[in-house]
Amino acid sequence: MARVLVLSGPNLNLLGTREPEVYGRTTLDEIHTMLSAAAERRNHQVECRQSNHEGELVGWIGQAGGSFDGILLNPAALAHSSIALRDAVGSVTVPTVEVHLTNVFAREEFRRTLVVAPAVRGVVTGFGPDSYRLGLTALLDMIERAA
Ligand code: DQA
Repeated sequence: MARVLVLSGPNLNLLGTREPEVYGRTTLDEIHTMLSAAAERRNHQVECRQSNHEGELVGWIGQAGGSFDGILLNPAALAHSSIALRDAVGSVTVPTVEVHLTNVFAREEFRRTLVVAPAVRGVVTGFGPDSYRLGLTALLDMIERAA
């Protein structure tokens, strides 16, 4: 059984009410429930956390090594700016997949710069809550193949 750490960054706690025309009406809790069910169907487990603080996310990634087999990460706005998050992902051997609800390449120019992405195995962007599900599928496939 694999354990996947699901991390969501700043403002994603507000999903459901935050700019619903952009992010939809699904809450982060609903996404977490969906991911839990998807992992259990494959006899795996997820642990889901959200933080508005860069340092807390960096800490969780750094400690993931002993306890988790993969990280599913939506860095939110930090995807476009955080070298600390990129270095954290690059400092652990746990495979990380980055996800975004929206298609970051179809929005404002500044969202096209992804600074964490070069350190991850792959990026899923633009499929709403399904980005998390597709990212989890890819991560679990990767973990199972490596086992
Ligand atoms: C996001 C995209 C980011 O540009 C934005 O800052 C977010 C959410 C997404 O999931 O679409 O907070 O990561």
